[in-house]
Amino acid sequence: MGTATEPEPKLRGDSAVDPRDQQRGPAVRAMFAGIAGRYDLLNRIISGGRDQAWRRRTVKMAGLTGGERVLDVCCGTGDLALMFAFAKPSPAGVTASDFTPEMVELTAQKAAKAGIAMPLCIADALRLPFADASFDVVSVGYGVRNFQDIDAGLRELARVLRPGGRVAILEATPARGVIGRFANWYINRVVPWVGNRLTRSSHKAYSYLADSIQLFPNADALKQRMEQAGFAKVRYRKLNLGTMAIHVGERS
Ligand SMILES: C[S@@+](CC[C@H](N)C(=O)[O-])C[C@H]1O[C@@H](n2cnc3c(N)ncnc32)[C@H](O)[C@@H]1O
Repeated sequence: MGTATEPEPKLRGDSAVDPRDQQRGPAVRAMFAGIAGRYDLLNRIISGGRDQAWRRRTVKMAGLTGGERVLDVCCGTGDLALMFAFAKPSPAGVTASDFTPEMVELTAQKAAKAGIAMPLCIADALRLPFADASFDVVSVGYGVRNFQDIDAGLRELARVLRPGGRVAILEATPARGVIGRFANWYINRVVPWVGNRLTRSSHKAYSYLADSIQLFPNADALKQRMEQAGFAKVRYRKLNLGTMAIHVGERS
């Protein structure tokens, strides 16, 4: 939503999924099911091969000290969850969850190939099937933007973390200025053109990607919303010329 200082972002509006629709969960799931098989390839292409480095940085900022119970929410094809599993000092275990079965299946295949025993679960991030304070670290890579209700989702992440536990969120962030104009052109024009074609996405998933980034809170606003959801000591680091951000915080 635009404010007195920030104009309403101009959306492409050609995706079958409207990122403003708070009932879009089933449509988002169907959209990700449709692109699951080509999701990794597109990540590598549209990030210029940088996406795994951003996930590595996220693991680093989560600051593992060894023995943590980690939950990766919105795991997709499992790249961030697997990075946590291989991190040093080693966590006690990594659980991965996502509400798209086709994505969870790809995580299962990667974990099996890597010889990692990883508990997997098909679950909506807004209603996680875990008791309060079950985890020491919760991560989300490129998932929060898709939450039907960002604040409810952040509160749910806080609920399953133990007090003092850490959250790490990697997400695209709207950029401003000259770089913002170039980033907007790339995300709004190039990425949908390439992504929708290569995935043959009937939902136009990469148009949704562009529109959902435009509507996502900027890094300062996300920090504030994390604080309101129950996180303290929230800080963030921007990456990729300010077009990505990693936020970390502690469960109060
Ligand atoms: C852009 S992908 C990110 C995947 C992975 N974390 C990564 O780093 O590439 C977003 C994932 O979030 C999942 N997702 C979106 N909304 C969700 C929700 N409310 N609950 C659970 N999973 C959700 C989708 O199914 C999809 O697999």
